[in-house]
Amino acid sequence: MDQSLIKVVHLCKDYDNDGVITKVLHEIDLDIKKGEFVAITGPSGSGKSTLMHILGFLERPTCGQYFFDGKDASALSDDELAVIRNEKVGFIFQSFNLLPKTSVYDNVRLPLLYDEKKRIKNQNEAIVDAIKAVGLYHRLNNLSNQLSGGEKQRVAIARALVTAPEVIFADEPTGNLDSKSGKLIMEILQELNEKGKTIILVTHEKYTAEHARRIIKVMDGTVSEDSIVKERLFAKNSEDLIK
Ligand SMILES: Nc1ncnc2c1ncn2[C@@H]1O[C@H](COP(=O)(O)OP(=O)(O)O)[C@@H](O)[C@H]1O
Ligand SMILES: [Mg+2]
Repeated sequence: MDQSLIKVVHLCKDYDNDGVITKVLHEIDLDIKKGEFVAITGPSGSGKSTLMHILGFLERPTCGQYFFDGKDASALSDDELAVIRNEKVGFIFQSFNLLPKTSVYDNVRLPLLYDEKKRIKNQNEAIVDAIKAVGLYHRLNNLSNQLSGGEKQRVAIARALVTAPEVIFADEPTGNLDSKSGKLIMEILQELNEKGKTIILVTHEKYTAEHARRIIKVMDGTVSEDSIVKERLFAKNSEDLIK
């Protein structure tokens, strides 16, 4: 439990659009251990998604250091980063990003098409297990457009799980959902964390963040608070609304 999975030191990110520099993140220091459930929270525009994109190897930092599982990510080539992204991290986005008019099974299978090393031995079993983990086995052959928003997000979770990643990043995963569907998504994320999965949830909603074990608050591109959740909320059995 006390092994660092994600460690960043004095990380910063600037965007350069035709010479116009926007400084988005400044001097971020973080240490996230394996098995944690962290919510990154803060107001819109504070830099949460940018931070998540860097931690998930979708973007590189402008300065500072990033160690993933003890390895210095800045020393890795773009190809090596692509491999880490495919093998070690899973993403869930607010807008689901499923392939349209494609079955649940094929949507969940998608990341395995890039598993060139055949790291996952029995692909069919991995796909079915991931779909079962989100309670959608009865929807296996349904097309993505035949699903509700909540079901679509559960497919996205299964797709993130199928490669057995070290960490799951979820950016506002309940943002497009009604409260009941959102609650189920939080319940699944909490269950996965109970089984040992490291989860990093980005949300601007305080209520949603309180389902995590630790909250990192980002304000104007810096970490303004980093605290353990004292009265943690549990989605299972809760009659509360998520919004
Ligand atoms: N590609 C980009 N070029 C310039 N500015 C950007 C770019 N992406 C994000 N930003 C800016 O960075 C800031 C933080 O954005 P973001 O990380 O999406 O915040 P959050 O997820 O907290 O709402 C915003 O001011 C946004 O406009
Ligand atoms: Mg965002």
